[in-house]
Amino acid sequence: MRGPVDVLLTLAARTTSHSSTLTPDQLSSSINSANLNATSAPFYPSPWMNGQGEWSAAYAKAKDFVSQLTLLEKVNLTTGVGWEGEQCVGQAGSIPRLGLRSMCMQDAPVGVRSTDYNSVFSSGQTVAATFDRGLFYARGHAMGAEHKAKGVTVQLGPVAGPLGRAPEGGRNWEGFSPDPYLTGVAIAETIKGTQDAGVIACAKHYIGNEQEHFRQVPEAIGYGYDIDEALSSNIDDVTMHELYLWPFADAVRAGLGSIMCSYNQVNNSYACQNSKLLNNLLKDELGFQGFVMSDWQAQHTGAASAVAGLDMSMPGDTLFNSGISYWGANLTLAVLNGTVPEYRLDDMALRIMSAYFKVGLTLDEPPINFDSWTLDTYGPLHASVGSNVQQVNWHVDVRGDHGALIRNIGARATVLLKNVNNTLPLSRPKFVAVIGEDAGPNLQGPNGCADRGCDDGTLGMAWGSGSANFPYLVTPDSALQAQALADGTRYESILDNYATPQIKALVSQTDATTIVFVNADSGEGFVNVDGNEGDRQNLTLWHSGDELVKNVSKLCSNTIVVIHSTGPTILTGWHDSPNITAILWAGVPGQESGNSITDILYGKVNPAARTPFTWGPTRESYGTDILYTPNNGRDAPQDNFSEGVFIDYRNFDRQNITPIYEFGYGLSYTTFSYSNLTITNAHAGHYTPTTGMTEQASTFGNHSTNLNDYLFPKNLTRIEQYIYPYLSSTDGRAASHDPSYGQPASKFLPDNAISDSPQPKLAASGAPGGNPQLWDVMYTVTATITNTGARNGEEVPQLYISLGGPNDPKHILRGFERLSIDTGKTATFTADLLRRDLSNWDPVKQDWAITSYPKTVYVGSSSRNLPLARTLE
Ligand code: NOJ
Repeated sequence: MRGPVDVLLTLAARTTSHSSTLTPDQLSSSINSANLNATSAPFYPSPWMNGQGEWSAAYAKAKDFVSQLTLLEKVNLTTGVGWEGEQCVGQAGSIPRLGLRSMCMQDAPVGVRSTDYNSVFSSGQTVAATFDRGLFYARGHAMGAEHKAKGVTVQLGPVAGPLGRAPEGGRNWEGFSPDPYLTGVAIAETIKGTQDAGVIACAKHYIGNEQEHFRQVPEAIGYGYDIDEALSSNIDDVTMHELYLWPFADAVRAGLGSIMCSYNQVNNSYACQNSKLLNNLLKDELGFQGFVMSDWQAQHTGAASAVAGLDMSMPGDTLFNSGISYWGANLTLAVLNGTVPEYRLDDMALRIMSAYFKVGLTLDEPPINFDSWTLDTYGPLHASVGSNVQQVNWHVDVRGDHGALIRNIGARATVLLKNVNNTLPLSRPKFVAVIGEDAGPNLQGPNGCADRGCDDGTLGMAWGSGSANFPYLVTPDSALQAQALADGTRYESILDNYATPQIKALVSQTDATTIVFVNADSGEGFVNVDGNEGDRQNLTLWHSGDELVKNVSKLCSNTIVVIHSTGPTILTGWHDSPNITAILWAGVPGQESGNSITDILYGKVNPAARTPFTWGPTRESYGTDILYTPNNGRDAPQDNFSEGVFIDYRNFDRQNITPIYEFGYGLSYTTFSYSNLTITNAHAGHYTPTTGMTEQASTFGNHSTNLNDYLFPKNLTRIEQYIYPYLSSTDGRAASHDPSYGQPASKFLPDNAISDSPQPKLAASGAPGGNPQLWDVMYTVTATITNTGARNGEEVPQLYISLGGPNDPKHILRGFERLSIDTGKTATFTADLLRRDLSNWDPVKQDWAITSYPKTVYVGSSSRNLPLARTLE
């Protein structure tokens, strides 16, 4: 199964035929059977970049630079130095001759990982709830600036995979939302912010990385599963385009410099050697000009992954600390003996250097000033082998004034789900009782658990490589107590969920306003917290949170519930209790948690956030779940995405299930009315598929073919386990440790894999992001929003569209804006509908097309409150 060649059969296509009469259930069973034995079509050769559009200046610089490189230097750019080989979580080889220091790859999604004096931002999922483009950008920029100031070259985020297919998905919090449009906007703005700050963003994990279970074989074996191959996410062509690929297209269009291919297989071909995903969809159709790096240990082949479109091997060794690499010396050999064409290596180097120059990085970047493997000032430069002890940490404070931004995002991301009788905002209450571990500190300190792999104290961050060290963590208890003291409020908190007698005695006292803090955590698969191997085992609150809420609300008629979580929890059984007067979702807010929630509870910020996922009444109501048990013997577990595009609210709408709180829902302390829907036709004209041929592939520079010139230099001291581009022998077979060495590429690489001839252009291609006409404005929609309440506030009007086909969701999000509107005032909501917003993917034409089904535009305040509607002409 771990063969170099993508399997040859094509996954049976699901059509968007206009005459289709399939019911949703028939449709889903047809997709399901199509997915059995799913295969991934081969697509070769790997497209060579050409510096199109806004890449041209960076491309010119890169071409000049790469033309000066030796073959060894090019290989050095493409291959990491090995796990814990240098200071960052991943580092590529350097080119000292030309002043290029080793590139530093570092996690990322909430702040610079494994260092000190960095900020901790809200999670991606939390900021998504703001529905605020400005905050997406500001957060990306601030995080980018911190990475830059630490010496990071590539910030390993943001995340659009997982998208959030299953609510239990362990890493959903690192991404934004199961809605691809919202995620697309959020990832694009984040990338622009990050790259404007001078570091390369890395969109991850590409693609179908929707669960932690079985993503990697060694990890799964560690949990006792007996499998030989990683999970295959089986995704049909329409679902791929309309759902999972959608935000990555936005990312590429935003100028994305790098992308990380994921651990899992897609249609039974590993994502990091899947030519359909990398060559066809990403580099050809989406015109991606940056570089593809592997997730850590997600590479499984050498030549095969090179021709399938991988550009950088991370962390460089085959398995952590194996001391050998699929690339490094093997890539040197593969190019010298013609297995991997020289143009492919040149293209890898060009892509890496173009991204580098595009974000403004130079050949004299300051050194990396931190070390991922120790916070000590002095330590081994090569932690893998403990050698070269020297100064590795400079403890540079990179936080700037980001605390204020983080506090603001935390407040603006807090979703007010319930608020009866104007319970909130609080105004100098007589007596506040705060209940729950989630209000307080982790007694072992905010960073007490490695990679935040525990759920102790308030949930300011979830676990895994997406974590970072807190510089401080303002707990809800401390911030609310400070507020209470300032107000003269009596304040008592009980931070133990199981102190039942004390809790009962406190919350049943007269005049108690009780705020119960509860949470649900999840994270990355390499850490198991309380039996949750990354993915959540269920959708209930942790530490008996549901019982806590029920117990408190039985005794206190003014119970306010605050949930910190990495996704929805099941609120059935208590959310509608009359004693529960308010419910808030505060996500995973980062270091300013307590201040942010205080700002909302006391009305210093009027809430306007919207839930970026649906709160269903039962776990089953989502229609999707994690595959928790291998279902294919020792072979790759098969995860059929048979629901197609129907995840989250699209499923609830299709199945007619009433959610507790629907996608896009959130209250304010004021009220708004919607009126006056207008739609203006921009007369964009017809769509022209892209045609023609690409240029022939080029190579840059000459190289010797004498293997003697590639031997390990005599004057260099070899560091154990470190990955080098040099050969150990002039005998290729000995140098490669490959018994089959010397076979012609045609023996084991697919047809066309090493062709350098001009290739036909794809209809849906043409510029970064895809055919540029997909971004033509076709209609402009406006609506009038009036603040009809007594407070100034913010409102998030949302535009949904029904594409009208029998296989389409009832309606899908296609526009939103966060507007600030003072009491009594009106504002105009404006959204452009682009061609892509109105199109379906046509798997027969292999292009986007607007079907002839009638299309209806809706505007309102959530996915289920859409007072304005009009059919498009
Ligand atoms: C594996 C994770 O999946 C990825 O997100 C992360 O960037 C790398 N490890 C490096 O830590």
